[in-house]
Amino acid sequence: MKNIVSGIQPSGKITLGNYLGAIKNIVNMQNEADDDTNLFIFIADLHAITVYQEPAELRKSIKSLAAIYLACGIDPNKTTLFIQSEVREHAEMSYLLQTITYIGELERMTQYKDKMIKQVQGVSSALLTYPVLMAGDILLYNTDYVPVGQDQKQHLELARTIAERFNNRYSETFKVPEPIIRKIGAKIMSLQDPTAKMSKSDKLEKAVIYLLDDEATIRKKISSAVTDSEASVYYDVDKKPGISNLLTILSCCTNKSIEELVEICKDMNYGEFKKMVADELVNKLKPIQERYYEILNSKELDEILTNGAQKASYFANKMISKVKRKMGIGRK
Ligand code: AMP
Ligand code: TRP
Repeated sequence: MKNIVSGIQPSGKITLGNYLGAIKNIVNMQNEADDDTNLFIFIADLHAITVYQEPAELRKSIKSLAAIYLACGIDPNKTTLFIQSEVREHAEMSYLLQTITYIGELERMTQYKDKMIKQVQGVSSALLTYPVLMAGDILLYNTDYVPVGQDQKQHLELARTIAERFNNRYSETFKVPEPIIRKIGAKIMSLQDPTAKMSKSDKLEKAVIYLLDDEATIRKKISSAVTDSEASVYYDVDKKPGISNLLTILSCCTNKSIEELVEICKDMNYGEFKKMVADELVNKLKPIQERYYEILNSKELDEILTNGAQKASYFANKMISKVKRKMGIGRK
């Protein structure tokens, strides 16, 4: 039996980076999985509230993300799709694992350091313990593989450390999970600063393609993407970060390799090249968006999430009981 787990935070609008770096990877794994594989995919709402979220907005984003997963190809017959906070064991596991995680390990996390300096009202302790919650998400399902984007690699390493430490201190309990990071698409860059990650929290709207952007917006954003003055299409992340990022996006949308695309595009001017990127992106996103609006207000969506939470709770509950028993807490 192989288990695969992944989650995305419902904070802000889902970006092309989330789709190409994480969701597409998950859908491919689901479609290639055999009958012996369990997939658990969730909406990480407990993670989102480590920084303040406006409650009404958050509730909308949770449902929206669920519909996005389904529109992108998550099949509830093959994958257990659920909302993290509806499976209580996630919060419980996080506490149990905090007892074997060191503050120094958490203070070293780059995402913590980046987010911490942006807080104006003080830094919540949950922002620091966020990676322990994430380790719990993973270890609850005795996970083998975790498909994520590049930025989550450090958190995954900590989850592995925590699993090994628990196994050594108590006794063999957890599998040590492995990250699955795609070579292409693991880090989609900002359209306005192609040396920085495309991020949900970017203040500059035109730096980010959102999965639900309409066609005109996508075309406008791609045509104003920052490039360079050389006027020649080839892949070189250091010398040509903007063009290389657009080539990566094109490669993910067409399933063609970067080499093939460079061969096709090498004589184009940047205007023509950008038009091709925008065309392919629109082709890719349009059917997803159509499905999204069909699913969003359907009764089916609620049923899927209710069933998902029930199924996930069943697995998570067994694991929590085992962990408590090993730690010697409670009565048995
Ligand atoms: P987050 O938006 O931080 O909840 O991230 C959700 C998932 O999307 C994680 O697996 C991230 O690694 C992935 N991700 C976020 N931004 C990008 C990006 N610019 N490129 C590739 N993957 C990304
Ligand atoms: N921390 C991840 C992110 O911001 C989301 C996440 C939470 C996650 N728990 C997880 C990803 C467990 C994979 C497995 O992207």
